[in-house]
Amino acid sequence: SWTTSSIIDDSVAAIRAQVGDGHAVCGLSGGVDSAVAAALVQRAIGDRLTCVFVDHGLLRSGEREQVERDFVAATGAKLHTVDAADRFLDALAGVSEPETKRKIIGREFIRVFEAATSEVAAAEHVGFLVQGTLYPDVVESGGGKGTATIKSHHNVGGLPDDIEFALVEPLRTLFKDEVRKVGAELGLPETIVGRQPFPGPGLGIRIIGEVTFDRLETLRAADAIAREELTAAGLDKAIWQCPVVLLADVRSVGVQGDGRTYGHPVVLRPVSSEDAMTADWTRLPYDVLERISTRITNEVAEVNRVVLDVTSKPPGTIEWE
Ligand code: XMP
Repeated sequence: SWTTSSIIDDSVAAIRAQVGDGHAVCGLSGGVDSAVAAALVQRAIGDRLTCVFVDHGLLRSGEREQVERDFVAATGAKLHTVDAADRFLDALAGVSEPETKRKIIGREFIRVFEAATSEVAAAEHVGFLVQGTLYPDVVESGGGKGTATIKSHHNVGGLPDDIEFALVEPLRTLFKDEVRKVGAELGLPETIVGRQPFPGPGLGIRIIGEVTFDRLETLRAADAIAREELTAAGLDKAIWQCPVVLLADVRSVGVQGDGRTYGHPVVLRPVSSEDAMTADWTRLPYDVLERISTRITNEVAEVNRVVLDVTSKPPGTIEWE
């Protein structure tokens, strides 16, 4: 539309004015905000932008491909992926407590991102860091345009101790729905532009108990089925999000064929919400629930029971951890 394309034109002009002939780096999370911010900066400065994507191994099925294949195809952006799954699994070994998990994932993420960014910055003389800050985030944090200091790591040779970046925040005046429109107009695929909220710590906080590779594979398979069926039923837009949670430390007895099983339950957590501050549990149609349940218990070997979370927020949070 006219307004969306004028937002894009103004934004591209402002980015060019700010960055000049400099270089920029942008972290991609797989989410809509960082993707749209990166796409705008790519349009403004082309190959002088490098995108960094940290695969922490806690992503859902297909998410890495959405970034590496679909985002790159749509934008032509230069992408540097860091494969850090083993590092995150090592750091999470033996940990079940939710806040500890979150702290470990956050800490490792910053370390990996900083190391990757420092490498790119040294090679390209990067002076700018792109962030997908939205207008509501600006208001919440009291405004003010800042700089970010990213400490380089001792194992990255030949760098100054600190690299200083100026922040480029092309979404600072926009609301989420405007960001989605801008992304669509820039040609980003619906899988990215229409993506439901997904927490930074990823599936790490949807496994109740220790996070292991096998448990992640089990949850990825169950989550992919739930998303497929919700999409097929045309409900993916109607609900806010539907976390699938693996109760990895719980087992229950089941029967399949002529054998007894002793497997794990998964919880479906479909919620309706305006802003995630409060939420209601979504009354999904029984036939959709039935298809999800039948497919998960047939197709995911470790799972022999599917249960539905019927708790609103408050008192429950949307995520289980
Ligand atoms: P809760 O569980 O607090 O979640 O009701 C509210 C919303 O925030 C998402 N969420 C996160 N998003 N980093 C994020 O970017 C996080 O650490 C995080 N934790 C929760 C959650 O999916 C829901 O949409």
